[in-house]
Amino acid sequence: MLHKKKNVLEVFAENERVNICAPMVRYSKLPFRELVLKYNVNISYTPMIIADVFKNSEFARESDFSTNANDNPVVVQFAANNGPDLAAAAELVAPYVGGIDINCGCPQKWAVQERIGAHLMSDPEAVRDMIRTVKARMDTPCSIKIRVHQDLKETYEFVKRAEAVGVDFLTVHGRTRKQKSTEPVNFEGVKLVKESVSVPVVANGSIFSLADAEEMYEKTGVDGVMSARGLLKNPAFFAGHDYTPWECVENYVKLALGYGTNLHIFHHHLMYMFEDIMCNAERKTFNTLSSIPAIIDHLETHWGLDVSKLI
Ligand SMILES: Cc1cc2nc3c(=O)[nH]c(=O)nc-3n(C[C@H](O)[C@H](O)[C@H](O)COP(=O)(O)O)c2cc1C
Repeated sequence: MLHKKKNVLEVFAENERVNICAPMVRYSKLPFRELVLKYNVNISYTPMIIADVFKNSEFARESDFSTNANDNPVVVQFAANNGPDLAAAAELVAPYVGGIDINCGCPQKWAVQERIGAHLMSDPEAVRDMIRTVKARMDTPCSIKIRVHQDLKETYEFVKRAEAVGVDFLTVHGRTRKQKSTEPVNFEGVKLVKESVSVPVVANGSIFSLADAEEMYEKTGVDGVMSARGLLKNPAFFAGHDYTPWECVENYVKLALGYGTNLHIFHHHLMYMFEDIMCNAERKTFNTLSSIPAIIDHLETHWGLDVSKLI
């Protein structure tokens, strides 16, 4: 069934500040996206999908992308290095999403070798080719998720050139491709991007709380903030919860089991959510559980999970 999705540019037009759940390989799948949308997230992203594999493989299409009416607004993120590959993959999902994003930030070695992800930060022409092709072939907004360069002049050139070929908005992770996630975010780089273009700009990097979001808005003037690790730990922080509320854990269990889930992803999500709310001894036991029934048993016994609510 076709679920018409909201064009994400409308979300920017309607909200002065837009809260976004980042693309996360393995994690930002349908149940998690639906979960965070209940807690004041305005847009969520799919994990990065490799465009040429997606367009060529039925198996990849089945496993990499699923959606429904509640998964809205949603942006699909692709990794690609040329317009035709990207557009062919994007055309397959465009009717089910509100935006198409190009990953220009994945720093992993294999990705850089494939000339995708962070490699694209030094190949602005490939990025322009992809934006142009998507814009020519479909109406769905096209965005890019970038990192900053060591030399911010390059970042300025990069975003100006993307804007010139019609990029609809962009997300900037305020770290270079060589920097670890533990290193501080470059607020100045994010601000420079915001001040250089007239399309909406989203800031990403170490947003773990509403206070972090506020600091980002104050220091950079961006239109939205995107969180990855913060939402993994506490999917409800944008709704004002300092720690993952139990009700959120219960919602996740219900969504994940309802849609069917992989044991490891399910377990990891719960480990992240419990990180700050379980005592060390319990966490040790919880982390060793090795089946979904064992996890459910634990939650029933120690946290009062109401199994009847799961049906
Ligand atoms: C588990 C995990 C998976 C990620 N997968 C992706 C991805 O598929 N695409 C992407 O652009 N970035 C990906 N990232 C990077 C995040 O989207 C984000 O840019 C980075 O974690 C910085 O944000 P944070 O400080 O809020 O975690 C991933 C990060 C994590 C922790």
